[in-house]
Amino acid sequence: MNKTLPLLPESASNLAADVDLLMILLTVFSIFFTIVIFVAVAVLAVKYHRKSEDEVPPHIHGSLPLEIAWSIGPFLLVLAMLPLSAKIMMNTYTPQPYAMEIFVTGKQWMWKLQHPEGPREINELHVPIGKPLKFTMISEDVLHSFYVPAFRVKKDVLPGRYTNFWVTPTKVGTYHLFCAEYCGTQHSGMIGKVHVMEQSDYEKWLSGGDESMTARGEALFNQYGCVTCHLADGKGRGPALVGVYNSMVKMQTGAIVKADESYLRESIINPRAKIVEKYSSIMPTFQGQISEEGLLQIIAYIKSLEQEGEAQQ
Ligand code: CUA
Repeated sequence: MNKTLPLLPESASNLAADVDLLMILLTVFSIFFTIVIFVAVAVLAVKYHRKSEDEVPPHIHGSLPLEIAWSIGPFLLVLAMLPLSAKIMMNTYTPQPYAMEIFVTGKQWMWKLQHPEGPREINELHVPIGKPLKFTMISEDVLHSFYVPAFRVKKDVLPGRYTNFWVTPTKVGTYHLFCAEYCGTQHSGMIGKVHVMEQSDYEKWLSGGDESMTARGEALFNQYGCVTCHLADGKGRGPALVGVYNSMVKMQTGAIVKADESYLRESIINPRAKIVEKYSSIMPTFQGQISEEGLLQIIAYIKSLEQEGEAQQ
């Protein structure tokens, strides 16, 4: 696509073709109607200009068919574009099976990226080609926006809340990563690179990396004493965490809550918000004590407990 249309950035993801098609459709529609309107303005101005000083124009009482036509017509046009944009949204936000997870922390003014099984990166991200990626993102401070034009993804990164999207890289190469939300004086410097690699190259790169995210999470889990209450056998003062991720948990109030990343994060920084049935509200808050990066590491560790639990069954 970008060979014929150099205006578009490189296409390197499963979303690119659809996004480009939608973009082209919208542009064509806009240009078409711009021309229609400007030509009509010019033609009608000439045709209906006042021909003499004392000319009195005839009364116009409107036209119902015309009004219906210009209401229904654009409505149908916009409706025709809905399936394509809906498809793009579905593809961006539908969880992909076997997706590789990438954890993003935005911070004035850098991107911190973590792989669950591998290295931490700053302003650089290495990913294999052809594998669905699940991004989980949060900000340490203000609003940022994670923008990779070649992937055709742009998603706000918010303080205090996780945002997700899914994308599959389809082309080996190095692509721009931008912050697309004004976030302070160095906003324009909050940039990076995404390296899409062949699987074998990626594995080579990965093996050169440092301690895994799960291992760092486990270290924090011990360091902050989580381990003393959340015993694996369920006999501790806090609920056991093996297999808790993505399970449905019953609260004291009777409510059933899905233990996703957001729930786990809230339970660490604001334990009183939701108390699990049969347990009491004794856990201290860790708000402000653990960085967003650290929280993601602890959550990665809790998720790994699920995987071990499943393997045992
Ligand atoms: Cu971060 Cu702009």
